[in-house]
Amino acid sequence: MVEQVYTASTTAPVNIAILKYWGKRDTKLNLPTNSSISVTLSQDDLRTHTTAAASSSFTEDELWLNGKRESVEGPRISACFSELRALRKALENADAALPPLSTYKLRIVSENNFPTAAGLASSAAGFAALVRAVADLYELPQDPEALSRIARQGSGSACRSLFGGYVAWEMGVEADGSDSRAVEIAPQEFWPDMKAAILVVSARKKETASTTGMQTTAKTSSLFQHRINVVVPERFKEMSKAILEKDFETLGKLTMMDSNQFHAVCLDSSPPVFYLNDVSRIVIGLIERLNSLAGRIVAAYTFDAGPNAVLYYLEKDEPVVLGLLKAIMPSVDGWQTKPAVASIAAAVPEGLDDGVFEAIKEGVSRIILTRVGPGPLKSEESLVASDGSPVA
Ligand code: DP6
Repeated sequence: MVEQVYTASTTAPVNIAILKYWGKRDTKLNLPTNSSISVTLSQDDLRTHTTAAASSSFTEDELWLNGKRESVEGPRISACFSELRALRKALENADAALPPLSTYKLRIVSENNFPTAAGLASSAAGFAALVRAVADLYELPQDPEALSRIARQGSGSACRSLFGGYVAWEMGVEADGSDSRAVEIAPQEFWPDMKAAILVVSARKKETASTTGMQTTAKTSSLFQHRINVVVPERFKEMSKAILEKDFETLGKLTMMDSNQFHAVCLDSSPPVFYLNDVSRIVIGLIERLNSLAGRIVAAYTFDAGPNAVLYYLEKDEPVVLGLLKAIMPSVDGWQTKPAVASIAAAVPEGLDDGVFEAIKEGVSRIILTRVGPGPLKSEESLVASDGSPVA
């Protein structure tokens, strides 16, 4: 007899920080040295789709990522599984009629709709989807804020992907991490015209993993102390306010300054940690020049632990921003995914030096056009068949 297989499926978004999380005060609980802020991106363009399944016939916990079996041994996944199981156990203790899912092994099957090779941080969407899917499977009553505390233990930035729109991760002060969780600053609908263009820049070699890089910075950089004690607390307030006032001028300015300071503390680490490459730096110069010619912030760049540029801009400025990018890289992979931008004409603002265009064109392999989007969404499409096997 085939035992019943219980399943729940979800999709979860990628988020890109505009005030960066960099540094842990507790590596076991994954507690940060500073609060951070991010924008959740649309799942039409970037998302992880995950099915969580449980059955008495499963003999071990399993994780399948993009068709490949991955280890579930690490402390991060274990922490998420055990917290979710404990919450389910409490429900079962209170209601004997519930199937004992907390005692069954879990099978997690996950797929990204974007190439992993693009070097986009997929751990945020991945852990957010895992936690949301298991919470749905277990029918847990916990809200996204409570679930964000669990996802945080999988990967810090994942806690912010439990919400859509504009999201803060409040670092908290408690030693047990109970107040270190994500909260919504404003939903997507509040300021829906935030757009993003991701320029995928190929890296020559594998970058230092963010977990390792931030440990080095926290241990060795003296600038870092100034950042976490003085700069971030002030910036957190200013950026939250700018979001609530839909003040792109302030938000964009601070976004670029924070990206630059994050890369500055990386450079101030011993040994130094480098994430930007020549192409990244040329893109920084281009956007600075574009803004200065416009006399206002038209687009804001930000870079995570890698050379890819994420440009935020408002919908009204799309002709300027995408017009310039079209002039630089008219045939790069990615334009065809958005037929609506086909009518935007290539245009170079007067006074902008095109001497750097060739280097950008050469260095960017793909453009991803997206916008602010919602938090995790339930999915009817199961990646686990009724007999429990992963659907390829
Ligand atoms: C530069 O969340 O990947 O993207 O908690 O060790 O998994 P772990 O780190 P991770 O770090 C993200 C760093 C960042 C900034 C950010 O997303 O805030």
